Amino acid sequence: MSGITEEAEATTRQNIEEQIRSVVPRDLLPTSAYAPIPGIYDVGWKLWKELPEADFAREMREFDDSIINENKEWVMRYSPMLANGELSLEQVKLSELQSYLGVDNFPITIVNHVYHNLKNKEVRDIILRHTAEEVGHAELKADFLVYGFGLDRVRDVWNGKPNLSKPINFGGSFPAIDALRKESPSLAYATVPFLERNLPLMNQIQGRALREKYGFPDKVLGFYDLHSYVDIYHERLALYIMAKYSASKKAHELFRNAIEQIRNEHIEVFQAQYRALKAL
Ligand SMILES: [Fe+2]
Repeated sequence: MSGITEEAEATTRQNIEEQIRSVVPRDLLPTSAYAPIPGIYDVGWKLWKELPEADFAREMREFDDSIINENKEWVMRYSPMLANGELSLEQVKLSELQSYLGVDNFPITIVNHVYHNLKNKEVRDIILRHTAEEVGHAELKADFLVYGFGLDRVRDVWNGKPNLSKPINFGGSFPAIDALRKESPSLAYATVPFLERNLPLMNQIQGRALREKYGFPDKVLGFYDLHSYVDIYHERLALYIMAKYSASKKAHELFRNAIEQIRNEHIEVFQAQYRALKAL
């Protein structure tokens, strides 16, 4: 017993949240911590467009869109192949297990950026908040593997080994990130949430395919449904930092290089995974 009834928890939480909101109108976590950027979870938030370096953020979006459009099926982790039902159930299982192994480490790679951004309180808190929001997300994918395929969470999922190719590197070490960090540690971090911008569409395609082509029920598809919108907010974290903090021309070029390098590596990894799946 924690000493507080569920009814008291519900009413206290509601009252405190209302009380805090009435003092400072900001978004709150269920634990009533302030959201790092006011309004960022509001539908259609566009504050970044009014910030001084908005043109840089806009250009990088266009640049990234051009990479995505030229390599759509690979940036989207061969989800078009899932959508046309060409993968067997066994191939879907292995693909999603491989994907789990890639996303499970994501909070660790994000939080590493905090040690390079301790002097900028706002960026520091954004990184910590982003980290916290990723904790537990991978477990929704574990749920899919456990309840959708009957895998054992601890033996098969948590302690599974990469089996198709090297795991995807989300936000980890890249030479271009290291070079960018020397010029601008906040932009080096911003590459991470910026590169999540393709995930809502990718997960929409995957969720629909897993329902319609493979017959999985809603209750095992939480990961895909949540990620059909949640990374909209994570791209916003990047856009805010990119547009707010002025950086050198060199830093802007290094950011562009980093996006290109990371997208290209992801494309290679997903092509290798797909080839390995098709060879089974
Ligand atoms: Fe995310």
